[in-house]
Amino acid sequence: MLYIGVDLGTSAVKLLLMEAGGHIRKIVSKEYPLSLPKPGWSEQNPEDWLEKTLEGLKELIAGANPLEVGGIGIGGQMHGLVTLDKEDQPIRPAILWNDGRSVAETDYLNNTIGRERLSVYTANIAFAGFTAPKILWMKKNEPEAFQRVEKIMLPKDFLVYKLTGAFATDMSDASGMLLLDVKNRRWSQEMLDICGITEAMLPKLFESYEVVGNLLPEVAEQLGLSPSVKVVAGAGDNAAAAVGTGTVGEGRCNISLGTSGTVFISSQKFGVDRFNSIHSFAHADGNYHLMGCMLSAASCNKWWTEDILGTADNEKEQRAITRLGENQVFYLPYLMGERSPHNDPRARALFIGMSMDTKREDMTQAVLEGVAFGLRDSLEVARDLGVAVSSTKICGGGAKSPLWKKMIANIMNLRVEETESEEGPAMGGAILAAVGCGEYQNVEAATSKIVKVVGMVEPEPQLVEKYEACYRYFRTLYPAVKGLYR
Ligand code: XUL
Repeated sequence: MLYIGVDLGTSAVKLLLMEAGGHIRKIVSKEYPLSLPKPGWSEQNPEDWLEKTLEGLKELIAGANPLEVGGIGIGGQMHGLVTLDKEDQPIRPAILWNDGRSVAETDYLNNTIGRERLSVYTANIAFAGFTAPKILWMKKNEPEAFQRVEKIMLPKDFLVYKLTGAFATDMSDASGMLLLDVKNRRWSQEMLDICGITEAMLPKLFESYEVVGNLLPEVAEQLGLSPSVKVVAGAGDNAAAAVGTGTVGEGRCNISLGTSGTVFISSQKFGVDRFNSIHSFAHADGNYHLMGCMLSAASCNKWWTEDILGTADNEKEQRAITRLGENQVFYLPYLMGERSPHNDPRARALFIGMSMDTKREDMTQAVLEGVAFGLRDSLEVARDLGVAVSSTKICGGGAKSPLWKKMIANIMNLRVEETESEEGPAMGGAILAAVGCGEYQNVEAATSKIVKVVGMVEPEPQLVEKYEACYRYFRTLYPAVKGLYR
């Protein structure tokens, strides 16, 4: 059989056709626009996601035997607020995971409701990107539109709804709404009351690998697929990426270097860090995970090379970087504010340390290193919790750069294991579909068969030591400038 994995990303949707044994037959990618209507705002049109996904699905299966397609699994950008009216039409553009408009609502949740209560109800505190503060923002700022809300869902759930008619979500993605009682894997009635919504407005909860429905007959016909194709609940893109890189079971780590940057640690036990500075979410394998998320990772490099240097030739820019651990220039990667561990939507990026002999490549190096230092900030929180991590998988667009992987290995002192494919979330989606269709007994059985490590980047003790000193300096920067952000 064949399985389709979909990654509904921030810049594009990626679709992947996987054979049951894990071989990837084809990958298709379709871009859509991102709208930044005001500083700190970030929106997308759900109809664009659907149009490009349907287009991509047709292209993906062209040339394959459609009767061989058994199932579809979708991983998607997390936390986005999608609202539908009673005609199932989006009421407004989706408010995305990296949107910082709900500062007042986040403060209200954390300070008036209180971090302790939030943590008891949901295992997390509020961050501006999470869904609950956005619901409160919409209620206050767009009351007429809010009155018309019939259904609240996450980005990938919109696709699942339009493909199958099933109003469903999965535990990993639902964790990022701040509406789920993560530990007990059910909606938190307390949080629904705080947000003034009812359970009927929210999707039904499933585990990621559970089948939520079949393709609607009209969708199947449009795509040239059988209406018996099954669609599983899918996962938030980070949990899907973790499945795609085999990050399941106890204490495994995956780093995703996409638009956002995440450090994801899988766990068989539920756990919360003392300050809730990293997230405690449900995993797509039925267990749990801890995750730190930085809002701008590969997007820092994209901004720097494409928008500022005016080139897309990353290889050439990175070839000029030769002196690791000796850069005098430092960069704070907070282009869209920062989530983990600072929880500061007002933070912005910063270069420091330039002198008359600073070169273009020093600045590029500082950007790449700044992102790796930011990832280490999250790893340190997990290490403080007693989580011992010595190796990590890596995925996302940034994982294509050997230099960036070397920096990460040495800045974080981790052995970086490279898997056959960097397509974490789409691969994870396909694996979840294969599990849902009964091809494998469970997620761990599937990943241990499918995911192969094909390379390693080992940390080098001398470089680790040099970078340790750099990281100690990096850590002093944010507290020093924090009070200056407006
Ligand atoms: C995770 C997060 C991002 C998005 C990116 O908490 O906000 O990684 O899921 O798509």
